Amino acid sequence: MKKVVLSLGGSVLVPTLEGNRVAAYADVLSRISRRMHLFVVVGGGGEARRYISAAREIGLDEALADEIGILVTRLNATLLAGALGDAAVPVIAASQAEACAAAAAGKIVVMGGVTPAQTTDAVAAVLAERAGADLMVNLTSVDGIYTADPKTDPGARKLDVISADQLLGIVGNASFAAGANTVIDAVAARVVKRSGIPLLVIDGSDPAGLEDALLAGRHSGSLVTATGKKPAGLL
Ligand code: UTP
Repeated sequence: MKKVVLSLGGSVLVPTLEGNRVAAYADVLSRISRRMHLFVVVGGGGEARRYISAAREIGLDEALADEIGILVTRLNATLLAGALGDAAVPVIAASQAEACAAAAAGKIVVMGGVTPAQTTDAVAAVLAERAGADLMVNLTSVDGIYTADPKTDPGARKLDVISADQLLGIVGNASFAAGANTVIDAVAARVVKRSGIPLLVIDGSDPAGLEDALLAGRHSGSLVTATGKKPAGLL
């Protein structure tokens, strides 16, 4: 079975606590897991950012704000693992090594953040490398990688397939502060380049889009590969 690592943004899994997509994602992930081995790294989203701004207002340092963000990612991960029930390993992995060990059970492995000064995209990129994944998918609140931020630049153009070097050129100088938000963080982009593992970036707001991408090879996101070309047989 193919191994796929998902970076599931908190902003798409839990856009608001009341409007969360946890049950819908659990359904889709359970179905996909019959065909491929899944690792899911869950992000903190808006709740993490709210905690981080409260931490700053209190005067806490960035590293502690990051630790608080990590706790929120693990909280969201716990919600998802609970909803997955028997399809997932019930314990949230605390490191990539733990996640790899937990994969022996043949169930979906769920984790959140692990260490300050990065985001769960970087956790997922390292996990993909560590687990020898065939693919990493970033499920995020934009529908792909653009030449500039589409939320602020109307001239931004979506890129279908790019190389890891091009990705680094786009996100390499992104902000390092707790709660910072780019399509993928710079640490993750460097690991994607190092590992050579293909990365697909898709809009995560509709969980069915993940099923379409992984099981039917249909998506309208952006693919990052070592060469900047789409390898045969991949999506
Ligand atoms: P996220 O990975 O959720 O960041 O971590 P994000 O870019 O806001 O992603 P979305 O919105 O979920 O898609 C939230 C915050 O938690 C801290 C960082 O401060 C990050 O901005 N964090 C997370 C870490 O410091 N280390 C980690 O391993 C993970």
